[in-house]
Amino acid sequence: MSLDELYREVILDHFEHPRNKGKLDPHDAEEHGSNPLCGDKIDIYLTFGEGDKVKDIRFEGSGCSISQSSISMLTEAIKGKSYSEIQNLIHEFKAMMLENKPNPFSDNEDLEDLGALEGVKKYPVRIKCALLGWNTLDQALSKKFAVLAK
Ligand code: FES
Repeated sequence: MSLDELYREVILDHFEHPRNKGKLDPHDAEEHGSNPLCGDKIDIYLTFGEGDKVKDIRFEGSGCSISQSSISMLTEAIKGKSYSEIQNLIHEFKAMMLENKPNPFSDNEDLEDLGALEGVKKYPVRIKCALLGWNTLDQALSKKFAVLAK
C-alpha cells in the first residue's frame, strides 16, 4: 500500500468513525467555527482538569471528509495536554499545512494520524478544510485563557 493510500484510509476511518463526537455537557468552554465558502461547521466543547490541562473534548459538526476527520484527530491529540502543549501542537500542525514544513508527527504514535492530512497540501483549496477545527480550537482557548488572565 502506498503512503497516499494509507493516508486516505486514515482520513476515511476518522470520517466514518469520528472520535469524541457529540455534545459535552456541562462544559467549561465552547466555540463555533464555520467555513463561509461551503457552510461546513464545527462546534467544540471542552472541559479542563488540573491546571490548564484539557480533561475532555467533544465536537459536533457536519461537512467534508477533510474537515470532519481533522477535528476527530484533533480531539484525540489534545486530550490531557496543557494550554502551552496545545499551542505548540497548533503551531506545528499549521506549519505543516501552510509553510510546507515536513510532517513532524511521524515518530509519535499518539499523533501519527495527524500526518495523514499532509497529503491535503496537494489541493490548496482544501487546506482550509483541514484547518477549520484547529482554528476553532485556537479561538476557544484564546477566549478561555484571556478570561482567566483578567
Ligand atoms: Fe467545507 Fe471542506 S468543503 S470545510
